[in-house]
Amino acid sequence: MANKITAAITAIGGTVPPDVMSNADLEKLVETNDEWIVSRTGIKERRVYREDGKGTSNMVMPAIWDVLKNSNTKPEEVDLIICATTTPDYVFPATANLIGAEIGAVNAFGYDIQAACSGFLYALVTGSQFIETGKYKKVLVVGADKMSSIINYQDRATCIIFGDGGGAVMLEPSEDGLGIIDSVLRSDGVGAQYLMMEAGGSRRPPSHETVDMRQHVVKQEGATVFKFAVTNMAEVAAQVMERNHLVADDIKWLVPHQANKRIIEATANRCGIPMDRVMLNIEKFGNTTNGTIPLCLWEYEKQLKKGDNLILAAFGGGFTWGAVYLKWAYNS
Ligand code: UT7
Repeated sequence: MANKITAAITAIGGTVPPDVMSNADLEKLVETNDEWIVSRTGIKERRVYREDGKGTSNMVMPAIWDVLKNSNTKPEEVDLIICATTTPDYVFPATANLIGAEIGAVNAFGYDIQAACSGFLYALVTGSQFIETGKYKKVLVVGADKMSSIINYQDRATCIIFGDGGGAVMLEPSEDGLGIIDSVLRSDGVGAQYLMMEAGGSRRPPSHETVDMRQHVVKQEGATVFKFAVTNMAEVAAQVMERNHLVADDIKWLVPHQANKRIIEATANRCGIPMDRVMLNIEKFGNTTNGTIPLCLWEYEKQLKKGDNLILAAFGGGFTWGAVYLKWAYNS
């Protein structure tokens, strides 16, 4: 009998825009200071995409080209493009379609996934299902956000956290048991009010009033989100380990969503994984929403070995949260 098909990551790309916004820069915009930001979040600086008239799809293109090159994929071979983003170029068409047009993926279909900071994990798991059926061979999964487009740089509770950036992976079939093995995905809309953008959707379409009231930006009740994030991200990460009979020593890397270093430490602690096996880049890039996990994988790629066990975990607006257990599929 043929082996079960799993979906393996066969290439990764990442990109951040060149412009750095440091904590000192933010001190000039809002009443805050470097000491507060670093001690409460772990963030020292973040990137901002400042190209006029360009959006998330334009920003993430360098990563997409790298993924195509590193996976030896011609654009016409791509079957599906899934883009996880909370800052799509437009409400519609989907950002995935714009990416497909840019690369010339003439045989692909594509769509976006909106699950805030957990979006990349949702997209990874969704993409893996298409591979596991045996019907699709190359699925491009993108996670990227131009968060600066929905941030109020007069709100110190949010502007210090978020940054711009993103990445992408190629999913291809493996018959060696590599790739995505298991996942736990969750959501609960009771959390909606604590982390949201109030206007711009069908309940409150854009108007002079919504603009004047600054309702087209991220609104967050940080302390409440923090409490839910600490508990839930740690819980699903531990759950996916336990049900696959994994102990901390079996895990080479924990790859957490980068929202707050204290949430990351709580998750590592719950899983028993020491911080030297936890991917971290929040210090440099802040919270890039759908970009954090692919950016981590991209930065740590050289340290990853075929067969390494990875736990990916995220928590975000919605609320949404989840964890993925995967076996890394290649040596770079
Ligand atoms: O990625 C999606 C999911 N999002 C998250 O996971 C974010 C979760 N939340 C957090 O990371 C944290 O709640 C924050 C970093 C957003 C805030 O940290 P906190 O320790 O929860 O602070 P807080 O909101 O409870 O505020 C504590 C104090 C307040 O002052 P008072 O009322 O005690 O006088 C705030 O006004 O800190 C004040 N404060 C600031 N002070 C200096 C809030 N923001 C700032 C700031 N600089 N930027």
